[in-house]
Amino acid sequence: LDQPRPRPECAAARAAEFPHLSDVVYLNTASYGPQPQSALAETRAFEDRRAAVQLRPEDFGAAVDRARTACAALIAADPAEIALVPNTSVGLNLAAALLRQGAGNAASASGAGSAGSANRRAIVLPDTEFPANVYPWMALERDGFRVERQALAGGVPDEDALVERVARGDVAALAISAVQFSSGHAADLTRLGAACREYGTLFVVDAIQAVGSMPLDVHAARIDVLASGAHKWLCSPFGTGFTYVRRELVQQFEPDLPGWLAFESSADFESLVDYTWDFWPDARRFEVGSLAIQGFIGLAVAAELITGIGLPVIREHSLALQRPLTEWAEGRDGFRCLTGSREHQSSIVSIRTDTAAELSAALAERGIVTVAREGAVRFAPHFFNTMEEVRSVVDVLDSLTDRA
Ligand SMILES: Cc1ncc(COP(=O)(O)O)c(C=O)c1O
Repeated sequence: LDQPRPRPECAAARAAEFPHLSDVVYLNTASYGPQPQSALAETRAFEDRRAAVQLRPEDFGAAVDRARTACAALIAADPAEIALVPNTSVGLNLAAALLRQGAGNAASASGAGSAGSANRRAIVLPDTEFPANVYPWMALERDGFRVERQALAGGVPDEDALVERVARGDVAALAISAVQFSSGHAADLTRLGAACREYGTLFVVDAIQAVGSMPLDVHAARIDVLASGAHKWLCSPFGTGFTYVRRELVQQFEPDLPGWLAFESSADFESLVDYTWDFWPDARRFEVGSLAIQGFIGLAVAAELITGIGLPVIREHSLALQRPLTEWAEGRDGFRCLTGSREHQSSIVSIRTDTAAELSAALAERGIVTVAREGAVRFAPHFFNTMEEVRSVVDVLDSLTDRA
């Protein structure tokens, strides 16, 4: 295999868009990403027009259309499959609502829900999912569903066991993170999605730790619902995100929370009080009321920057930056890197050690920003980080651990 290399496009984007990154070595995008200057400039221009009460018609509909299109491009979806939402949790709760309405049966290869929703009550998740992808499913236990947490194998989701479990034919939904928040393990979405489609299981993906850091193709992976916030790898404002709903499912289901803008009739502001029950045929039907337009302007510009650099380019750059870290941990007593084969690598490198909190704090004192999560130091380099930064981190790790 060719060795991944740092990419010049990434260095150019750092120079143009992120003037504040030389003060520290920022390796914490898995918590939140910095906003690019171009996104801040467009957001400020919008806010300035608003302050001057000079907003134009295109500051509304066109701005959010642009955000839906930019989000769709990140995951190879159609913009009609994208609902703009404030965070991951809203999308996962939307998936749970679809399940309550019978989507676990309607997802079957044979088509529309003939099995009857009473047949399938199991909701399967790997153990140690981020809580955003657990509580919405636990809430469905009030409706007679049963959450099963599948044991990990070697600290990561056991995909063989998940596929076998789905193949028993009674699983309503499988919900998994595209990239697990603490280990950084990237799931084989194509494999899991194929099993789910074959056995009529709704396939739900929490993608906040993946979108913007690697190419994703929701149709190829047969994902039914994908939920993502945008403040991490998409470098977008807090309170912005999107939910993808597979186009065949969009029209089969109605939102539990009907927002007025979810109805086609509300597009005519001259005549709002007809109350015709006509949900948009696309995923806008799942959006609830007025959106945080200024935030979605920031999201659109940042997402366009990322697709402009290219997700395969960002992926290669990130894999290159990880190597010094994984090599440092390999064979070192008391340190274990959970990173597996390249297909299971994400942009997160987690180094497990008994002293994770102390090590992360010692790195912080030296201007290196990481976090300790679940007994590991989590390093999360993105496209704006450089090989020089990562090498300097390895030097600091050497000095800290030699002394210990
Ligand atoms: C896997 C995962 N899901 C969800 C979230 C956050 O959920 P939300 O966007 O609803 O705040 C995080 C991190 O904060 C995460 O790591």
